[in-house]
Amino acid sequence: MSTSLTATIRERVQRIETMPAIPAVFLPLLKLLSNSMEEVRLDEVVRLVSYDGTIAAQCLRMAGSPLFGMSQPPKSIKGAVLSLGLRRVETILLTCCLGQAFPAKKWVLDPAVFWRHSLGCALVCRKFAEMLAAADHEKAYMAGLLHDIGFMVNCLAFSKEFTKAMEHACQEGIPLYEAEQATMGFTHCETGQALAEKWKLAGDIVEVIAHHHAIEQSQKSQPLVALVHLSDLLCRMRGLGYGYYERQKVDLVSDPAWAILLREHRDLEGVDLARFTFELDEAVEEIHALVATVFGAAPALART
Ligand SMILES: [Fe+2]
Ligand SMILES: [Fe+2]
Repeated sequence: MSTSLTATIRERVQRIETMPAIPAVFLPLLKLLSNSMEEVRLDEVVRLVSYDGTIAAQCLRMAGSPLFGMSQPPKSIKGAVLSLGLRRVETILLTCCLGQAFPAKKWVLDPAVFWRHSLGCALVCRKFAEMLAAADHEKAYMAGLLHDIGFMVNCLAFSKEFTKAMEHACQEGIPLYEAEQATMGFTHCETGQALAEKWKLAGDIVEVIAHHHAIEQSQKSQPLVALVHLSDLLCRMRGLGYGYYERQKVDLVSDPAWAILLREHRDLEGVDLARFTFELDEAVEEIHALVATVFGAAPALART
């Protein structure tokens, strides 16, 4: 990518900060997330969750979903924090914050579709990580949730160009990043990276955002990037894509990301992939319901 293009992306991403739509708790939350778990104080998390009434309500609803492992909705924020554990509460809170972060009218990509894909990918990443003894489950969730954050930048800062890319992708039935590259000359990976660096997200999360469609370019954290890449493919194959039909057929095991992940996690060899994808199908309906709860009822969309 040329230096002038990089400068344009940086400059437009810079302007996003001045938008009033980012909830007040979002930046303090990111700061909190950069600390190690031992340093995070319970009352600080409860304070952040309680600060914004809408976010608090969404957080309680999400915590009550079977996807987060609780059979009954928690009665209080403190109760939710105690039962779910800090890591999970933070990821739920981040999901809710991001859902509110950008104004609906600016979207080229339907927000419900985008969040369904992001949340779906986050949950698939976590399920995937749970099968691998040495993987960090909540880190995987976070990486999945944020991996396509560049689409938000594109909607906000490059809406005209991104509209064309979206049209091209729908017409040709090709992956959205290929359509972006063909029509814009850059992708959500570059714009997402610029935003992630500006927000000072952790280095491994920035790697995921920047390289999840080109794992070979990832210098560090390759196994995490590979895990997100495979989860992204799985989501797109199982009705949690970008709202249009993609023609490409995928074989996960022959994808180079599989070999990268296998090198790091030998226990991947014993994974029953057929059973895993079957379990995901069961979770897909839950994900649709959860996104409708958190981000408002989804409009009638083709589930592709
Ligand atoms: Fe992507
Ligand atoms: Fe994705």
